[in-house]
Amino acid sequence: MKTTLSVIKADIGSIAGHTKPSEKLVDEVKNFVSTKGKGLIADFHVFFTGDDIAILMTHHQGKLDEKVHKMAWDAFLAGTKVAKEQGLYGAGQDLLATAFSGNVKGMGPAVAELEFEERPAEPFILFAADKTAPGAYNLPLYLTFASPFHNAGLIISPEMRKGFKFRIVDVYHTKADKVIELVTPKDLYDIAALLRDVNRYLVESIYSPEDNEQAAAVSTTRLHNIAGKYTGKDDPVCLVRVQKTFPATGEVLSPYAICPFVPGFMRGSHWGPLMPVKLNSSISYFDGPPVVSAAGLCVQNGKLTEPVDLFDHPFWDRMREKAADKALAIREQGFFGAAMLGMDELEYTGIAERLKELEKKFKIKES
Ligand code: F6R
Ligand code: MG
Ligand code: MG
Repeated sequence: MKTTLSVIKADIGSIAGHTKPSEKLVDEVKNFVSTKGKGLIADFHVFFTGDDIAILMTHHQGKLDEKVHKMAWDAFLAGTKVAKEQGLYGAGQDLLATAFSGNVKGMGPAVAELEFEERPAEPFILFAADKTAPGAYNLPLYLTFASPFHNAGLIISPEMRKGFKFRIVDVYHTKADKVIELVTPKDLYDIAALLRDVNRYLVESIYSPEDNEQAAAVSTTRLHNIAGKYTGKDDPVCLVRVQKTFPATGEVLSPYAICPFVPGFMRGSHWGPLMPVKLNSSISYFDGPPVVSAAGLCVQNGKLTEPVDLFDHPFWDRMREKAADKALAIREQGFFGAAMLGMDELEYTGIAERLKELEKKFKIKES
């Protein structure tokens, strides 16, 4: 019997701005899933990263299952009720649709799912990021699955030498899913050419090319593509299976030491370094910096172990300092040049209206 890992996450309200959900809110979501998930899901954990709550579930219903998605949606609705009662900020913010239909894709929450026949031991990592967008995973996933600088297995393991298949989505095409499949090492440079554009081309999933076993899944929803306006960044989740024919846990974590600049800092309008943080961390400096957490787990017959907090290690303290230094460096130049996102991203924010008004005041000089 195949096992499905589903992670569904949403920002449904937080304390003191966009910082972290309240304990009562997290408890409500946990209690809801524990009660209503009986007989439907095999196991679950609830985490938060900044203002986003992620429900990680195991079950045997397959991907995009209506009942599983509806239960998660209802858990977020129940949480929203608590958020409203407590007067939390942004209560129900990511629940963009008015009624549930089919699955949560396109309704506001982010979703990533993997379905597989369990190996004798089935280790995996759940990444959850806040104050950024799904393209934040482009570089780490590229480096883990395609670069021997980070993945020694690409030169050492006979299986991994064969490379991986990347499925990349063009999210500017909103009418339907527009995807391309490219394989390493043959298409390495084409993959890089696409993934450099973190706003448009996103890694959606990665597979072993021979048996099509799925190694990774990323939530690729762009909220502004759903809402047509800025409603918060997309704060993506990502699942990666590790070890044996897949990269080792440390090879998946390795690129996060770069703390690359990603979009999503303050008002979703600035570039900031991606800081690896501990599970259940909050948000602070300049509504950021962009953060990513990593929970490592094993699943057996659908049952999950307790999570190991993979960025809770002295090594990552130093990387957090590095990210803070990078944050200060780019913040020195405020709104200027490379500190802010380009107009293609800012067009969903108030600045676009402002520029339209200013445009009317421009005069063409008679020469
Ligand atoms: C939210 C975020 C924040 C907000 C900012 C303004 O995820 O990134 O930086 O954009 O705090 O929020 P509002 O418009 O809700 O006052
Ligand atoms: Mg938010
Ligand atoms: Mg968020």
